[in-house]
Amino acid sequence: MSGSRLLETLGMKALRSIDPETSHGLAIRAIQMGLANAPGQITSPRLRTTVAGLDLPNPVGLAAGFDKNATALSGLAKSGFGFVEVGAATPRPQPGNPKPRLFRLTEDQAAINRFGFNNDGMEAIGARLAERPKDAVIGLNLGANKDSENRAEDFARVLAHCGAHLDFATVNVSSPNTEKLRDLQGKAALSALLSGVMQTRDTLSRKIPVFLKIAPDLTDAELGEIAEVAQETGVDAVITTNTTLDRDGLASAHKGEAGGLSGAPLFEKSTRVLARLSALTDGALPLIGVGGIGSAEQAYAKICAGASAVQLYTALVYGGFSLAETIVRELDSLLERDGFANVADAVGSKRKDWL
Ligand code: FNR
Repeated sequence: MSGSRLLETLGMKALRSIDPETSHGLAIRAIQMGLANAPGQITSPRLRTTVAGLDLPNPVGLAAGFDKNATALSGLAKSGFGFVEVGAATPRPQPGNPKPRLFRLTEDQAAINRFGFNNDGMEAIGARLAERPKDAVIGLNLGANKDSENRAEDFARVLAHCGAHLDFATVNVSSPNTEKLRDLQGKAALSALLSGVMQTRDTLSRKIPVFLKIAPDLTDAELGEIAEVAQETGVDAVITTNTTLDRDGLASAHKGEAGGLSGAPLFEKSTRVLARLSALTDGALPLIGVGGIGSAEQAYAKICAGASAVQLYTALVYGGFSLAETIVRELDSLLERDGFANVADAVGSKRKDWL
């Protein structure tokens, strides 16, 4: 084991023995101070790919919620991830739900969070994004204020304010921790919301791609409607999925906590939603697979199920920040082993296994 990996193993052990939110804050500090694994850009002709017009050095991204306030952009740009999504950002700053609001489910390699969009607001986050490193692909997760009078409009406001500094933006109507937010996934509400966001996007100086992030807890009928609306409104890609309300098969003490479940137990459910959406859209709409990825095999499985790129978060809590580098390098080997010239050729190659 190398010195830095040994340090990471010891550090992870210490971090896991303290309160999860404090420990997350320390992990962000370590990244800001340059103490985390920083291999720089990892790419190869096999890993390089284009998703919704975005050129990615590799298809493995950091999911939203890790760097909610865009305070660690320089470190994250060197972390080995092919793209980084920060946020969620809402128009006005808000404190989120009372603590504790993040729980480790160690036996399940999972987490439950009910943060409720705690963030510094679009002014502060936009100012940090204006100073962002230019040699990384960075996007922002858009959210709505809890007490907003027009939540649908909030998404467009954050995009209008921050859009000039972004490579992509994600409409997040799938967080379970803001009451009634998920109702915006219904056909009429979603169509109106996305039309507004796409109009705003068209006024930006750079026409960045807009992604829609959905919940895993949708019926087939709801998923079908989302596929229709996404295609009608011209959304550039769909991120499948956010955290789940499902609590099936958990062993950990904290399994009864309210909030969204992420990590290993979400893998199968989110991959099935991904494959169904891929089938519903005939592979025409780029999909980004997220939920429970903890290894290169699982990243590869999502790609073969229909994802053009993937994201992860919770596995970093258990595997350390160097997991990004490990997954990217091993993914390259898996693609080579199976004779794929590039990521795009593998996308959807095993979709039927998940339907
Ligand atoms: C999240 N996630 C999330 N998603 C989002 O769209 N906006 C957000 O602000 C957050 N915040 C957030 C906080 C915490 C503590 C966690 C664990 C997760 C969801 C995340 O981006 C991802 O969709 C899920 O966690 C599933 O992926 P993993 O964690 O199983 O790899």
